[in-house]
Amino acid sequence: MWVATFEGKGSVDLLEFKIHCAIFLRQRAVEPFPFPNEVYPADWFAPLEVDDWFDAPAHPLEIDLGCGDGSFLAKMGQQYPDRNFLGVERLLGRCRKVWKKADVAGLKNVKILRLDTNYAVKWLLPKARISRLHFLCPDPWPKKKHASRRQMCRIDFLRSIHDLLDEDGEFLFKTDSLEYFEEASEVQNCCDFFTVVDWNENDFYYPVTDFEQQWLDEGRTMNRMRLVKKQPDG
Ligand SMILES: C[S@@+](CC[C@H](N)C(=O)[O-])C[C@H]1O[C@@H](n2cnc3c(N)ncnc32)[C@H](O)[C@@H]1O
Repeated sequence: MWVATFEGKGSVDLLEFKIHCAIFLRQRAVEPFPFPNEVYPADWFAPLEVDDWFDAPAHPLEIDLGCGDGSFLAKMGQQYPDRNFLGVERLLGRCRKVWKKADVAGLKNVKILRLDTNYAVKWLLPKARISRLHFLCPDPWPKKKHASRRQMCRIDFLRSIHDLLDEDGEFLFKTDSLEYFEEASEVQNCCDFFTVVDWNENDFYYPVTDFEQQWLDEGRTMNRMRLVKKQPDG
């Protein structure tokens, strides 16, 4: 009979050896859980204790809503080690890509939360705590019957964003859809939550997102909006 010596196991026969090999390989292939850099709220019905998730809780907090594969987040995390970044994304596959990017780059200041952005914005994200909120290349919902899903065109969404931002906090929005942008601008003009400020290409470091790059490569043009929180008497 074929035998092999296994560390701590003495002699084993061929079948047992194969099983040990299979288990060893399987363990190496298995995903870690909890995922590194993914956050799991202790309570899904109470405001998030975001500061518990970061090594440096006093640093400014930035949120990327619908962060996709997380290239933007990873680049921002690298560029600004003295800021904390939280991505919110509902698709599991994309969340996996975000935590992998953050993990490989050793970024302790980048975390991902798998959640619907509407729910996070309305109920869970901490109020008056976020220094910048990024809403980049959201789904444009081009069909008329889906237009009501455009979050930038909803007053309640804008009000929630306003409440989340700290004093002078900023909300940055980009889309390639001119129709979405124009509608969002109209709605924005009807409410009194923000001041629109100039945002030129090279005003500050702002990496191109994955979708944006795709659209630029297709020859599309991006529209951007930079909003600063207004104070009640502002
Ligand atoms: C067009 S992609 C843009 C991704 C990324 N911001 C970029 O620019 O590369 C829109 C992303 O938002 C996510 N998303 C759309 N609606 C969402 C929602 N209600 N909650 C969470 N994520 C959402 C999608 O899963 C997708 O990853």
